[in-house]
Order: sequence, then structure tokens, then C-alpha cells
Amino acid sequence: MDYSRWISLDEFTVNNLGVVKKINEVSMPIAFKESFYSASVEQNNDLNQIAYFKEIPVGVIKCRLIMPTKSDGSAATKNKSSSKILPKGIYIDSLCVLEKYRRLGIASKLLEYIRDKCSEYFLHEIVCHVWVDNKEAMQFYEKNGFKVKNALVKDYYKSYTNDLNNQTDAIYLSLTI
Ligand SMILES: CC(C)(COP(=O)(O)OP(=O)(O)OC[C@H]1O[C@@H](n2cnc3c(N)ncnc32)[C@H](O)[C@@H]1OP(=O)(O)O)[C@@H](O)C(=O)NCCC(=O)NCCS
Repeated sequence: MDYSRWISLDEFTVNNLGVVKKINEVSMPIAFKESFYSASVEQNNDLNQIAYFKEIPVGVIKCRLIMPTKSDGSAATKNKSSSKILPKGIYIDSLCVLEKYRRLGIASKLLEYIRDKCSEYFLHEIVCHVWVDNKEAMQFYEKNGFKVKNALVKDYYKSYTNDLNNQTDAIYLSLTI
């Protein structure tokens, strides 16, 4: 069944940030720091979206632009003399849907929104990390055309507060647009 007409998206705001945090907390095995949420509103970033199913908030995607790195390894930032630095792609920090609302196409709709943003910004890659034991997420990303770029990123999730049974490695995935 096609549920897409029941799904709508909206940007993060100070008013829905508490809901965003709650959806992340109950859906993800890792906990993000407070700054992860506050920065997403301060940046006024249209790559952060909350999904509603019949007006109930049920899913979240949080992304950022990937800036090219300078020779010293730091991220290049735009300034007056380098106003033409172009992002390399989009990184998915977090994508989750409340358990009861899964397999209704909600994450697909959130990802489709980010794919459209890629086209709008003339970007050609979406990347993300997935916890190695997260079979559902792997199936979701592979169904959506992502390919494994690095099959073992050791201890990627070690610095997060987590519930990962001492398994903190990740798989790095990439979708070429
Ligand atoms: C991964 C996740 C975001 C998918 O959300 P969703 O809204 O259920 O995904 P969709 O309904 O758009 O699924 C699209 C397709 O992906 C695949 N898929 C999604 N979940 C799957 C699962 N549990 N098992 C197998 N395939 C799955 C299916 O092919 C599905 O299409 P189908 O339902 O027609 O068979 C959701 O399971 C989730 O929130 N998991 C916990 C958080 C997480 O792990 N996030 C990803 C890491 S950043």
C-alpha cells in the first residue's frame, strides 16, 4: 500500500526540537550530545527534517554538507577570498523512524528529500555510517542504492554514549547521485 499521502516533512525548529530528540533517543542505540540538537537549529539547515505520519511526528533525518578538507586536514570554510568552495556531498548524521511506523516508506521519503537537495545543490554523493550489526539499516540503505565504501571503520561509535554491546565498529556507505 502507498502511504505517501499521509507523510509530510518539515524543518527542525526550536519548537519541535524536543520531539526530534525524543524520536532519536527511542529509535537509535546511540545517544547524541545536546550540542548535536541545538546546532541543528542554529545552522538554520534545511537538510534537517522531521517526518509526520497523519500529523504525528514519527521520523527524523539530520544531515550536513561535507566540505573539502585543506592540506592540514581541517575543513575548508567559505570566507571573502574563497567564496566558491563547493561542498563535496551530504553526510547523514542520523536517520530514524519510530518502531511502530516502520515499513511505511517514511525513511524513504526523508531520503528522497535529501536526494532532491543534492540535485538542487549540484552535489553527487550522499554518505553515512551504519553500525556493523544494524542489519535493518543496511537493508534499507542497500535497497536505496547505497554501496559499501569501507566495510570496517574501527571504533567509529566508541566516543558516543551507546548501547551497542561493546561492538562500536561501523560500515561506511555511499550513494552516487
Ligand atoms: C532503517 C530505518 C530508518 C528504516 O525506516 P523505514 O521508514 O521503516 O524504511 P522504509 O519503510 O522507507 O523502507 C524502505 C525499504 O527499505 C528496506 N527495509 C527497511 N527496513 C527493513 C527491515 N527492517 N528489514 C528488511 N528491509 C528493510 C525494505 O526494502 C523497505 O521496502 P519494503 O518495506 O517495501 O520492503 C528504520 O528501521 C529505523 O529507524 N531504524 C532504527 C534507526 C537506525 O538504525 N537508523 C539508521 C542508522 S543511521
